[in-house]
Amino acid sequence: MTPEKARDLLAKAELIYPEATIQTALADVAGRIGQRLADKNPLVLCVMTGGVIFCGQLLPLLPFPLDFDYLHATRYGPETQGGKISWRMAPWTSVKGRSVLVVDDILDEGTTLAAVKESLLRLGAAEVLLAVFADKENKKTKPITADFVGLTVPDRFVFGFGMDVDGAWRNLPAIYAMKDD
Ligand code: IMP
Ligand code: MG
Repeated sequence: MTPEKARDLLAKAELIYPEATIQTALADVAGRIGQRLADKNPLVLCVMTGGVIFCGQLLPLLPFPLDFDYLHATRYGPETQGGKISWRMAPWTSVKGRSVLVVDDILDEGTTLAAVKESLLRLGAAEVLLAVFADKENKKTKPITADFVGLTVPDRFVFGFGMDVDGAWRNLPAIYAMKDD
């Protein structure tokens, strides 16, 4: 996307959550994660690329020992059954016997994260917990629920705080939605 197009898009977008709301939600979700995982020496896995902002801001709010790595997974074509994912970059750190916290930007239909969880369990993780900053209220039955959610977002295309619109605006500190035409 050209920078002009990106600026135009942002100018026409609707602010859903300002930065202050996001920071409050971030501190809140970090507290809940701490209550559950502080004594587990968890392996935190950032889902690239969308999870990078949430994860990057979350880690300094977790005051306990943990390991950190990342994964990058895409599903095979739509014709493939759930569970078959292609690792573009698997975690290098062994998940065997670990409490694993997968951190991503948004849970929409949940197919990819469901497959990621299944794969990590198959690789021997003791438990796999899922943290997403945004949970989309899309009225669909999701194959997976997040254990930790920052904020819920309406069933619209949203961007900012890690989420992109055609590659643009992952870097915004707030969350916006495209205006309905
Ligand atoms: P899911 O498999 O439908 O849960 O969504 C997978 C991925 O789609 C998420 O990790 C995001 O990268 C992307 N995604 C879903 N909804 C949105 C959105 O509203 N804005 C930006 N990215 C989205
Ligand atoms: Mg993603």
